[in-house]
Formats: sequence, C-alpha cells, structure tokens
Amino acid sequence: MTHTEPFRRFQYDTTAELQHDLDRMGLELPLLGDMAILASPCPIGSGSAPNRIAIQPMEGCDGSADGRPDDLTWRRYRRFAAGGAGLLWVEATAVVPEGRANPRQLWLHEQNLDDFRGLVRLIDKEARSKPYKVLQLTHSGRYSKPDGQARPLVAAANPWLDRPGQDQTVLSDEALANLVPAYVQAARLAHAAGFQAVDIKACHRYLLNELLSARTRSGLYGGSLENRSRLLLDIVRAVKAKVPIDIAVRLNAYDEIPVPYGWGVTQEDHRQPDFGEPAWLVRALKDAGVSLINITGGNPYYNPHVNRPYDTGPYQPPVHPLYHLTKLLGACRTLKHALGPDSPVRFMASGLTWLRHLAGDAAAGLVASGWSDLAGFGRQAFAYPSLAADLLEEGRLDPKKCCLSCGKCSEIMRDGGQAGCVIHDSDVYLPIYRAGRAGKPSLSGKDVAEHV
Ligand SMILES: Cc1cc2nc3c(=O)[nH]c(=O)nc-3n(C[C@H](O)[C@H](O)[C@H](O)COP(=O)(O)O)c2cc1C
Repeated sequence: MTHTEPFRRFQYDTTAELQHDLDRMGLELPLLGDMAILASPCPIGSGSAPNRIAIQPMEGCDGSADGRPDDLTWRRYRRFAAGGAGLLWVEATAVVPEGRANPRQLWLHEQNLDDFRGLVRLIDKEARSKPYKVLQLTHSGRYSKPDGQARPLVAAANPWLDRPGQDQTVLSDEALANLVPAYVQAARLAHAAGFQAVDIKACHRYLLNELLSARTRSGLYGGSLENRSRLLLDIVRAVKAKVPIDIAVRLNAYDEIPVPYGWGVTQEDHRQPDFGEPAWLVRALKDAGVSLINITGGNPYYNPHVNRPYDTGPYQPPVHPLYHLTKLLGACRTLKHALGPDSPVRFMASGLTWLRHLAGDAAAGLVASGWSDLAGFGRQAFAYPSLAADLLEEGRLDPKKCCLSCGKCSEIMRDGGQAGCVIHDSDVYLPIYRAGRAGKPSLSGKDVAEHV
C-alpha cells in the first residue's frame, strides 16, 4: 500500500483519537487500556523477566577511554533499574577497540571486568525485582570512530552510505573470521559479570547487519544468504558451544536501502519490506540457540525516521510517523509468527516512544495480541526512567513526563557529547547539549528527506 498521509507531529490526547487516525489511514496497531498483561513474567532462555516492559539499549557515549562505565553511565543504569522495567538491555559495548563507535563507547575486556560486575550489582540493588539483563555486544563496522575520527571498516562498498572522499577498509575474510573468538571472549566476560544474556547485535548497519546485505561481496561472507549470514550464525553457535549464557540478537527486519545494497526490502521498492530473508534468518537463529530477538529497522545515520519516528529530526519525512511506527511493530509480529506459536524464542518490539502517554496501550495491545512478548522503550527511558513503575502501578503514563521525540538526545550524540534527555533531565544534559551545539544550526525539521 502506498501511503500519502503527510507528516504530522504527535497530536493525540486519547486512544480513541489515535484509533480514529489508524482506521482512517488503514493502519493496524492493537491498543489495550488494561495494563495487567504487562505485569506478567516473561520466561526467556534460562531466566525470566519479572514483567513485560523493557528498556532498549540506549548508548550514553559516556564511558571512560578504556571502556569502563563512568559517572553518567552509573547514573543512567541506577535510574533505569529503579524504574521497574522487567528487562534492561544494556547499551552497545564493543568487542574490539577498533570497532568502537566513539571514544567513550563501552568496551568490555579482562581489565575492566570488575566495573561491569559492579554495573550488574548496581542494577540488581536498585531494582524493585531483579530485571533480566542483556549486554549488547557490537562491532560498529562502517561507523567505527574509536578515536573520534571516522575509521570505517566495511563489509562491502555501498553507494548509498559511503562518504565521498573518505578512506574505508573492506574487512578481509580473515579479519571477519577473527571476530568469532573476540565475541566469545566478550560473552565469557559478560557471563562472569553476571549478565543473563549477550546480544550479538545485527542492526542499524553496524558490521553484522551490513554483512546481511553484502550481496556484492565475494568470498565466504558475501553473495548468497548463507554466506551473508555466516559470521552472525558462526558467532552465535560458538558462544552457544562455549559460554553458559542466553543469546539474544537485536535484528534489523529491513533497512529501506535499495537492492542490491539493502536488507529485507523488495527489489522493486526499497520502502516495502520483503520478510523472506529475515524470516529465514530468525529460523536459523532459533536453530542455533537464540532465546530472544529484538526487532528494529532502518539506519540511524541514513534514514533515522524509519527506526525512531520523531517530531523533530535532521529532516522531515514525507509521510506520517504512524506509517513507520506500525510498519516497525508489524515487522515484529511477522517475524514472531514466522516461528509459530510454540517457539521458545521471545520477541521484543521497538519504536514505541513517539506514542507518548499512549505507548502503554500499544505495549499492552502488542503483548495481548501476540505481536510481541516484550515492549521496548528507548528515548522514553531517557526522558522518563520510571515509566514501567507508572504503567504497572498507576496504569498510565504521565503526559508531562513523556519524551517529546525532539531529537536532541541524538543531536548530542552527533556532536560528540554524552547523550540523555535535554528536556526532562535538563540539569545534566542541557549544558552538554548547548556546548555541543555552539555555532551549529538547530534542527528545523522542515526539510523533507530526499532519500525516502
Ligand atoms: C541516543 C540514542 C542512543 C541509542 N543507543 C543504542 C544502542 O546502544 N544500541 C541499539 O541497538 N540502539 C540504540 N538506539 C536505538 C534505540 O534503542 C531505539 O531502537 C530507538 O530509539 C527507537 O525506539 P524508541 O522509539 O523507543 O526511542 C539509540 C537511540 C538513541 C536516540
């Protein structure tokens, strides 16, 4: 279906108003006013989340030079833990230093294991009931910036994403194969630190996600789907064989980049998902022993509106945010259903924040309708870390505390600062935002994206 409803900022007071627009636009999204289902525990792998509300991985870019959590990292996880979510998905953590996305990205190694142990202890101490804890393991690939300068390590050249005039290294088959032991070692350390699961991150065009679309690459890791998914599956199988920890994958369902460079999209129209290959992959991940899949999409550098519908961003998308939102949540349903009702693999949905105070109704609706097992919140967790407690205890979110999807947390990241909510946590993050923005134009949100 082609959607022509133009972009509009969030404008709903009630679920009835939201439902009215969904119906008018022919979009499907289950909404449920009773939050009781979110209070039910969710068994995952060898553990369990005490409730269905989850915090998405949200990088603060505030670790130390050697990859340890630093003051603002501790503060963030203290607030997240106290907020009552049943699952905390701890942010992108590099497995090798050259794969860090910024010089402050977390990076787990033997010398800082005790700091990560401390992070797990802090979360369990602050939490009302111990959440299920996942550590996201990453290699940033073409977005590697370990010393603050772009040092792209790519799976294949890509005319949509390559920056003109920028040197980039195409990783050799040998370099890719050498990452398997690096992920296993990081998983060992994550287990020793006390995490229940590691996420072998394969989303947002970081390395393992880029490989999934490397049709133009030759050799062991390019061309066929079997080759393109080889490294991800090799890592999952190696971790499964060697480390007694649950395995999760944050997976792009589609990226809205044209074929042959895109993933999960039709040959004719890169805006239309084609779930054939992603459905094959989730079956292969299940067979390899994955317990939890967190569905996302798009590329935060190239088409951020796909991954995190917003009111203000680097450009204004031509169509209504509800279109992207329902597509992303519907992708979770499609891929969960691809494994059938008896599958032990749990699914987590992304992208709920734009719905503000109505996100709880969508979270309960997704779980009740079998679209997802867990409802994940990203930007909302920066703005409103106690969102889970309010949903579970009050049955509602306070509109005054909700994220405005203003894009300022992402702007801080792009400016090289430490990310958090500039509006609702302004004592800490407004000065950081202002310092990073000095002399730069502010986001107008007026320009319509050319590439969508
Ligand atoms: C500042 C910022 C940091 C993020 N860090 C990560 C990360 O470390 N790993 C990841 O997979 N996604 C990351 N994301 C994406 C979010 O997890 C999430 O998918 C996105 O914000 C959409 O969900 P939401 O609508 O609930 O915000 C980040 C997003 C933002 C804005």
